[in-house]
Amino acid sequence: MVSADTRSVVVDRQSAQTPVDAASTLEQLLAVRASYRAFTPEPVPELTIRRILETAQLTASWCNSQSWQVAITRGAGTERLRDALYGAASTGATETTDIPFPREYRGVHRDRRRESGFQLYNALGIERGDRARQQEQALQNFTFFGAPHIAIIHTDEALGTYGAVDCGGYVSNFLTAAAAHGVGTVAQAALAMYPNILRRELDLGEDRTIVCGISFGFPDVEHASNSYRTTRAPIGEIVEWIDN
Ligand SMILES: Cc1cc2nc3c(=O)[nH]c(=O)nc-3n(C[C@H](O)[C@H](O)[C@H](O)COP(=O)(O)O)c2cc1C
Repeated sequence: MVSADTRSVVVDRQSAQTPVDAASTLEQLLAVRASYRAFTPEPVPELTIRRILETAQLTASWCNSQSWQVAITRGAGTERLRDALYGAASTGATETTDIPFPREYRGVHRDRRRESGFQLYNALGIERGDRARQQEQALQNFTFFGAPHIAIIHTDEALGTYGAVDCGGYVSNFLTAAAAHGVGTVAQAALAMYPNILRRELDLGEDRTIVCGISFGFPDVEHASNSYRTTRAPIGEIVEWIDN
């Protein structure tokens, strides 16, 4: 049911060099990566998943603690997790998340959140006040949007917030590495809403903090939910230069 992976293809960091045109490659990659919310059922080849994992494993972490642990599902493993999580979410079951969800989105954070929500609803033809369809769409988180795989990222609760910060870097690099292989992803805090179910299904101890999940697979590019791209604030809204 749950098996540890002892094989590893180590990326040789000693001989690694900055590739020619690295900056524009990275810019393109980060620009092309997007969250996908509809996937084909086709599984991702194991070698591709391994290369994504090897790349994400290069993530920096405090003291090089590499505080992330990852459960990757495939085949019946994905179905078992899907059944467990969708079963809970569709009946309205609730748990307390290990990491508290945001208390409030206010100011620009509220505005940006609303904009991305409306983009999704517009793409799917969901009216602004249509709570039923909005909830139905939210529930799709627990079907993993049809993805053949999920990665559940967890960390040692003793590491506290900085363990989660390390995991955030890992998640970001996983998403980017996947994009480089043509694999679609969506990070999902929603999956962390059921930490006890995940600990039970993944055979994890109480000392494991569930950070988030990532659904991944080959995107269904024809699906309306994958038809738009979110925006970003200009860096002038983000950065202050401190000169003296
Ligand atoms: C930590 C984290 C948690 C997220 N949780 C969810 C989620 O539960 N459900 C979802 O549909 N998208 C989720 N997302 C995806 C974001 O909505 C998405 O990254 C954001 O709107 C920017 O769009 P983009 O990824 O297409 O650039 C999450 C992203 C991150 C980084």
